[in-house]
Amino acid sequence: MQKLIINGGTRLEGKIQINGSKNAVLPIAVAAAILGDSVSVLHNVPNLTDVKTLSAVLEGLGASITRKNGSLYIEPINRMEYEAPYDLVRQMRASIYVLGPLVAKLGRAKVSFPGGCAIGPRPVDLHIKGLEHLGAEVEVKKGYIYAQAERLVGAEMDLLGQHGPSVGATANVMMAATLAEETTVIRGAACEPHISDLARFLNAMGADIEGIGTSTLTIHGVKQLHGTEHTVISDDIEAGTFMVASAVTNGDVYVEGVTAEQIHAVSEKLTEAGVQLDWDDTGVRVTTPGQLKPIDVTTAPFPGFPTDMQAQIMGLLTLASGTSTITENVHTDRFIHAAELNRMGADIRLEGRKAIINGVSFLSGAPVMASDLRAGAVLVVAGMAAAGETTVSRIYHIDRGYEAIEKKLNSIGADIRRVNDGE
Ligand code: UD1
Repeated sequence: MQKLIINGGTRLEGKIQINGSKNAVLPIAVAAAILGDSVSVLHNVPNLTDVKTLSAVLEGLGASITRKNGSLYIEPINRMEYEAPYDLVRQMRASIYVLGPLVAKLGRAKVSFPGGCAIGPRPVDLHIKGLEHLGAEVEVKKGYIYAQAERLVGAEMDLLGQHGPSVGATANVMMAATLAEETTVIRGAACEPHISDLARFLNAMGADIEGIGTSTLTIHGVKQLHGTEHTVISDDIEAGTFMVASAVTNGDVYVEGVTAEQIHAVSEKLTEAGVQLDWDDTGVRVTTPGQLKPIDVTTAPFPGFPTDMQAQIMGLLTLASGTSTITENVHTDRFIHAAELNRMGADIRLEGRKAIINGVSFLSGAPVMASDLRAGAVLVVAGMAAAGETTVSRIYHIDRGYEAIEKKLNSIGADIRRVNDGE
């Protein structure tokens, strides 16, 4: 296993380019590989472990995937393989995306039930509910989800769950509905920018989806979908992470390739905390003219503050001049990073789904451990702001969602080394 050794206290300065969105490319690659009947080409695809894991799942189903210069060439499945096995699915929850498309295309699917993970229980009841509305018979036994349907038929449904809309269920059911007979209406659909990017990709393949970007999606079923060429939107969470990194190092960083609309809620909160954001057509310049101010943050589905930026903003607020609060409403157990930040001198107290953060004047380097993707990212960010050396272990979590994070940050002034355990 590898770890990152961060020599903190350096100021970030320069330009950093944002990659394609992980959460957009995963369902788009699934759609291309299972629903399409000819080759698709995806541009702006980040080189991430999650993309490799998903490619292995899709290749196991008979697709053929080649990567060349940041683009994926996806030749769709060509045989009746309908099983996504435990060994691959357990590595990445997004493998559940193959469930709906397999039923739509082959009439059956057997997908390992994705496990829980470090950010709390993550059920799939809404995925199952949506597919059942389309006429699939779904059964969970011996750790697998079995779904089958001679044909899927469009239906009206409400997919809102107790924690709001589900990104995954919306994507899964929308993909299945593209090839169903008649029309499907999904109310309570997730509106995240990566869901819209998936819908635009499906339409480019020949699907007929209306209401893109809203909470009601209307999908008129079509007989077949063809391959197409698509440029994946940029990664709002990677952008947000680097914006926070600039702010906590008192840096001056131009984050290139992100739009203000994509990252509105995060921008609003950063501004409230005293970070200066100067937007232009291609990105944003991030500077911090004075002391960081305490704020209150509540996570919510898009257009609210994203749960995937909760850890990073917590890192920033550890250095604010007063007491901040964060209320986590999406993944309610997602606070493991708080204890690691406290190891670095932060003062964070947890009360259920709320974190109370008393700002401190400095953080100190320490050995810490990444417990999930974004929890890992905040430790890198905090390590750059801290005095002395921070060692972040279990960085395979970080590599799932950030391409060469240390190279990118070193190019704008960070001092981070990747070493093998034991070095
Ligand atoms: C996606 C993102 C993840 C992000 C999350 C919320 C990908 C690959 N991952 O995850 O990074 O943190 O959206 O923005 O895009 N829920 C149910 N039943 C279900 C499904 C979900 O109750 O069947 C609940 C979840 O437990 C959670 C909430 O709904 O509390 C939102 O989850 P969901 O949007 O489905 O998250 P993912 O699609 O797994």
